[in-house]
Amino acid sequence: MRYFKSDNYGKKLVFGNMIPTHTIEQGNYNEVDAYEVIGNIDVKDGCIIWDIPLRPTDSVYGLGESVRGMNKRGFEYRSFCSDDPNHTPDKQALYGAHNFLIIHGASPVGIYVDFAGEVIFDVDFIKSDFLQIRVSSVDVTFYIFEGSGKEIVKKFRTLIGQSYIPPKWGFGYQQSRWSYETAERVTEIATLFDEYDIPCDAIYLDIDYMERFKDFTIDAKAFPDFEKFVETLYKSGIHLVPIIDAGVKVEPDYEVYEEGIENDYFVKTDEGKPFPAAVWPGKVHFPDFLNPEVESWFGEKYHKLMDLGIEGFWNDMNEPAIFYSEQGLKDAIEFAEQQKGKNLDIYTFFELKDRILNLSNSMTDYKRMYHTYEGKKVNHLDVHNLYGYHMTKAAAKGFESYDSNKRFLMITRASHIGMAKYSGIWTGDNHSWWEHLKLNVQMMPGLNMAGFVYSGADTGGFGGNVSPELLTRWHQFSLFTPLFRNHSAMGTRPQEPWAMDAKTLSLIRDVIRLRYALIPFLYSEFMAAVLENKLLFAPLSFFYSDHYSRSVEDQVMFGDGIMLAPVYTQNARGRMTYCPEDMVLWKAENYESLSKDQLTLLDQGHHYIDLNLSQIPIFIRKNKLIVLVKPKNRVNDLDLAEITVIGFVDTVAEYTLTNDDGFTKAYETLKTKFTVTRKTEGFSIQVDTNDASLGKATFYLIDGDGAVQVTVQEGQDTGISMV
Ligand code: GLC
Repeated sequence: MRYFKSDNYGKKLVFGNMIPTHTIEQGNYNEVDAYEVIGNIDVKDGCIIWDIPLRPTDSVYGLGESVRGMNKRGFEYRSFCSDDPNHTPDKQALYGAHNFLIIHGASPVGIYVDFAGEVIFDVDFIKSDFLQIRVSSVDVTFYIFEGSGKEIVKKFRTLIGQSYIPPKWGFGYQQSRWSYETAERVTEIATLFDEYDIPCDAIYLDIDYMERFKDFTIDAKAFPDFEKFVETLYKSGIHLVPIIDAGVKVEPDYEVYEEGIENDYFVKTDEGKPFPAAVWPGKVHFPDFLNPEVESWFGEKYHKLMDLGIEGFWNDMNEPAIFYSEQGLKDAIEFAEQQKGKNLDIYTFFELKDRILNLSNSMTDYKRMYHTYEGKKVNHLDVHNLYGYHMTKAAAKGFESYDSNKRFLMITRASHIGMAKYSGIWTGDNHSWWEHLKLNVQMMPGLNMAGFVYSGADTGGFGGNVSPELLTRWHQFSLFTPLFRNHSAMGTRPQEPWAMDAKTLSLIRDVIRLRYALIPFLYSEFMAAVLENKLLFAPLSFFYSDHYSRSVEDQVMFGDGIMLAPVYTQNARGRMTYCPEDMVLWKAENYESLSKDQLTLLDQGHHYIDLNLSQIPIFIRKNKLIVLVKPKNRVNDLDLAEITVIGFVDTVAEYTLTNDDGFTKAYETLKTKFTVTRKTEGFSIQVDTNDASLGKATFYLIDGDGAVQVTVQEGQDTGISMV
């Protein structure tokens, strides 16, 4: 065991010689003789087991993409990228491996387990009041951070590198479906958005755009003249986002396959042959993204689609997901044949069933796969959690080599700490269940802690049929998530905004228009979170230390000034909400109807808030401002010609709205600073800007006594005192 310390970041504990993950970007650590480690660390049977006592008042936050609450106490989680479309509360692993957590109590501690294979986090489950971290190896590095919750996040996120920033159109509404199978259907969807006057910036292309599920090909029958099609939609302001899967179809004369074989680029069997697995196209090989040569090769393949005008992608099935392997299928069939004509007792019958049902994503198959990593032959299980990360890194390198100053949209399914600098994530195949709307709310802080600020869930739910009410309420929450994508599975009820009924269409249109009105503000908050290594979504206890705030699980802080308390239950026409301090409640409905009557001052404490289906509760903290603009149907058309500022001003409130061109890497070039000061009577307002588009501003200001005043400021004059 070796001990290291860094003045800025904390401690590092090194066991043996781990397989490098390259997730830590920086940090000057010096080796020291020893230091005190909380709890007890044991090396036993080739594993490292770390037991850390938890105080009753400690919360445990983090573990990124995982089931259950924000406070992770009470369950055992497994860090192992998994393709599992049923995110029920008993699922230990989802698609991401995010080995970072914070024990948040009297003296918070953050821990990052730097390891490429499986890790178990037993949080107060097997043994009461203990966190147990089990690593399946004696080679691992732990990073240990101290400070407040916010400070720990900042230190960790600084170490893993700046989170991914999408192009600004990635904040617009995005429509997806498995699948819009033809160019005609995609065009129809785009047209319907305009006909229904619903803002939208992107439409996704799921696997059917490809020629028989072959990456980097186009089905010429369903999508004739793809380039022209991309261009026409692009001209109307719609970006197309095609999917890329990890598995490469085995097919002679298919370029990607042929090149992969010729250069020996695929993941191998122990004997050194390309590992045969099956996914969408049937038989596939997996590119060995862990090999830098393969990374560059695969990354450059994205250029093919970029040459046709594509500016965004989603990487999928990169855990990697395996339907079955040749060997696995052969073994299962052999076993089944042996049972022919036999009278199967319960055990044999269950074995037969398991052999068939467990063909997909089997550990036996993963054990049979080999990579070339850092010049050595490595078993897949030792680096499993790095696979999706390296696929997405390959794509990011491809973007960089195509145009190093341009931002491309990139979301991926499998992920690992450190990948957040290359891409955002969506949370995979959730369901149209109210429970998954709540899970979406609860997952956001953990994702942000792991660096995934550009993230969101499939709005409306991927699997199952959505109800009009769930679709509406889900949109009302996704209004705030940086990635706002409506996506659903084949065979489920269509869930485009217009797919339900006239009432739902109108409600959802209002939400999406409100999203566009808020985009400049959301984008500004997002950029602050990324550039300053802060959380965009945080548990209440990161801001307030009272005991209620520590246990609230269904409310979340957004940025620095807002608290969200979404409705996430069927038939609810209101909900209990805890205000940790006096707050202004804005019952937002739609951009047009904004009025004084929607704003009320609430005292610190518990409140039942009535909320009909059209009302979205947004809570504004003391001395904070929210900025809205006039919505348009494309992100690119938004400007500051007509802005609205809503503020709770007890003494002085300041907000700096940042902006930029939205597609290059020159960030925060435009700044508009609002300063509102409460006077004996009324308020004084000052606006300083270098944004030429700033026009008329309307202020809805609420003072500490709950009085609302509306003030309009015309033109670009700054420094005008309006009392
Ligand atoms: C996976 C993805 C899902 C996609 C489907 C078909 O299940 O998670 O989003 O629609 O594959 O490509």
